[in-house]
Amino acid sequence: MENQSQPTVFSSSARNLWRAVEPSIWTSNSDNIRRDQALSVLKTLLDQPRWLEAYLLYDERGSQLFEQICKLPEYYLTRTESAILAENAGQLIRSAPVECIAELGAGSSAKTLHLLREQVRQRGTGIFVPIDVSLPSLVASREIVRRQLPQLSFSGLHARYQDGVSSIEKSLPTLFVFLGSSVGNFNHSDFVQFFDHLSQCMGPRDFLLLGVDRVKEAEVLEKAYDDPKGVTADFILNVFQNINRIMNCNFDAGKMRYHSWYNREWQQVEMYAVSTASQEIRFPSYGASFSWPKDDRILVEISRKFDPVRLQQQLQWFGLKPVEHFTDPKEWFSLLLFQKANSSESG
Ligand code: TRP
Repeated sequence: MENQSQPTVFSSSARNLWRAVEPSIWTSNSDNIRRDQALSVLKTLLDQPRWLEAYLLYDERGSQLFEQICKLPEYYLTRTESAILAENAGQLIRSAPVECIAELGAGSSAKTLHLLREQVRQRGTGIFVPIDVSLPSLVASREIVRRQLPQLSFSGLHARYQDGVSSIEKSLPTLFVFLGSSVGNFNHSDFVQFFDHLSQCMGPRDFLLLGVDRVKEAEVLEKAYDDPKGVTADFILNVFQNINRIMNCNFDAGKMRYHSWYNREWQQVEMYAVSTASQEIRFPSYGASFSWPKDDRILVEISRKFDPVRLQQQLQWFGLKPVEHFTDPKEWFSLLLFQKANSSESG
């Protein structure tokens, strides 16, 4: 893989940061991913209250479970967003005259195919750059895109969002795509940091397409995040298998249960692991431990729900100008297109 030539999507300063792991898939050179994960676990699990960063959920099994969640009847988000995309992809691509489509947290990119197909139909060519922490997902995405849209050039980035985004050449007109309401999985502090960084990395001809779940009745939301088959519970609790692997911890799947609810005041679904027996959690290589009492809970994930107009207003603060807003007939989900504002217009 070492002698694969580098794609033009990388800025010149980023070029030596990446190496090929698979045909057309690049990973950041400094084997930082493991260490980053370990740091993240230490910072959040030893914090009070204890919590976890969302990306840790997507190991190989987690990514598979998440694909299953997307097909559950209770989980309306994926099919609703996909329908909005299918209906408006033509308009979206016309509004964003770009050469490159970069997808953050792409998974297998099933929904994005609507956009990629339009890019090929309207412009005959394009570059697709999915960014994901799951290598098997990138491989799946590459196979689908190669088969269905051979006109596109494909460069997968095996990385966290920040590292992927900051390596893309600024002068290449790019549509950044962030779907699935993944932005709702950031807490307020990470949300601010994310948009500040993304906006700084965007060039003057870049766009952002954001898919967000909207505030709605608690009943619908609570069902979407706690299905009767228990796939969501498996997905959430699977994070501890990943953490055991990363930090050599001793979390025991038999001593915890899943609990979630919609917090109306904070407009977010909160997903917890609740301890069912008092236990001692050890981080042997770090020399730390904590006791996890029975009935005490760890906040594994939040999923914030949005008011699209307020979100448009908030993102203007980061120099992102609202361009279009698409929704479904029930107004359950919104797709928002933004354009990077010239620095003279922003603020
Ligand atoms: N971004 C999705 C959401 O907020 C993904 C997700 C995170 C999720 N945690 C989940 C989906 C738990 C189902 C269950 O909905």
